[in-house]
Amino acid sequence: MDTVKKVDLDWSKLGFSYIKTDKRFIAHWKDGRWDEGRLTEDNKIHIDEGSTAVHYGQQAFEGLKAYQAKDGRVLIFRPDQNAKRLIKSAIDVVMQPVPEDMFIRAVRAVVKANLHWVPPYGTGASFYLRPFLIGVGENMGVRAAPEYLFSVFGAPVGPYFKGGLAPVNFITSERDRAAPHGTGHAKVGGNYGASLLAHHNAKEAGYADCIYLDPLTHTKIEEVGAANFFGITKDGVFVTPKSPSILPSITKYSLMEVAQRYLNMKVEERDVLIDGLDEFAEAGACGTAAVISPIGSITHNGKKHVFGDGQTVGTLTRKLYDTLTGIQYGDIEGPEDWMVEV
Ligand code: PLP
Ligand code: COI
Repeated sequence: MDTVKKVDLDWSKLGFSYIKTDKRFIAHWKDGRWDEGRLTEDNKIHIDEGSTAVHYGQQAFEGLKAYQAKDGRVLIFRPDQNAKRLIKSAIDVVMQPVPEDMFIRAVRAVVKANLHWVPPYGTGASFYLRPFLIGVGENMGVRAAPEYLFSVFGAPVGPYFKGGLAPVNFITSERDRAAPHGTGHAKVGGNYGASLLAHHNAKEAGYADCIYLDPLTHTKIEEVGAANFFGITKDGVFVTPKSPSILPSITKYSLMEVAQRYLNMKVEERDVLIDGLDEFAEAGACGTAAVISPIGSITHNGKKHVFGDGQTVGTLTRKLYDTLTGIQYGDIEGPEDWMVEV
């Protein structure tokens, strides 16, 4: 595997952008069954104009990464967790779920078919995979689609937030990405459509992204853009919000395990009050794309709360980052079944 000739790219300069790679997987559900699916070079999808995905947001997606290890192996981080979450999201918007074994077969096939696009070890980049499931077929009224399309494509990526492991600044949003009893816990497109204006406004105002508060009371932190929030208290406890409208981040649950098992830290999943940020010495955003992005400051109601000096990465944040990425790149032995070899 280490003899694969790589494409000519400046790997360490990559951002989080679309790059057309060679092959993607596509499968179709019709008449009660999924077909086998196939790899194709065509990056355009041809779907019915009445597709529910186009009109009614009947769709869900995932994001996961493959990493090249020092010895040349290519490892995918916890694909079973993404497969399970896509099943849950599908059920939430009444779609035909993709069986876990099919999801994992598709993801592996896409990595295998694009090995020359997987960033070499040591560049800090990784291969991002984007599985998606959409309602398609002839339709007009608001109802579940008669057919479904499942596809997985991938691209080499660098950091999602500028600078990678460098603190960035956020501002709270007055808008919500999800409703108190809505689809916030599912990875469905509607949540992201609803978030675009808040994201745009935050960027226009010079922030990396916005922070969403709980939609019912606007007093508790929920999400940091397209990532989960964590804070580290002055006594070194890893704290992360708990709410039914937060997307259950696989990175966040992995970090909780890393914090406990590798760093001997206490972890708590509970309310995080926007007016109670003084309890934290460090804070960060975490997710597949974001990895860990330290939070330098949060502006809320015109007041700026700065973590530490706002510029230095906290000691425990760095340890969490080093341990998690060490596991992902195969340098540190991870918990059983976390890394799946292609
Ligand atoms: N929250 C939102 C809204 C997201 O889009 C993501 C990205 O997937 C996350 C959190 C982080 O989740 P994960 O760690 O599973 O990528
Ligand atoms: C991810 O981290 O996989 C995401 O989905 C974040 C964003 C690019 C939507």
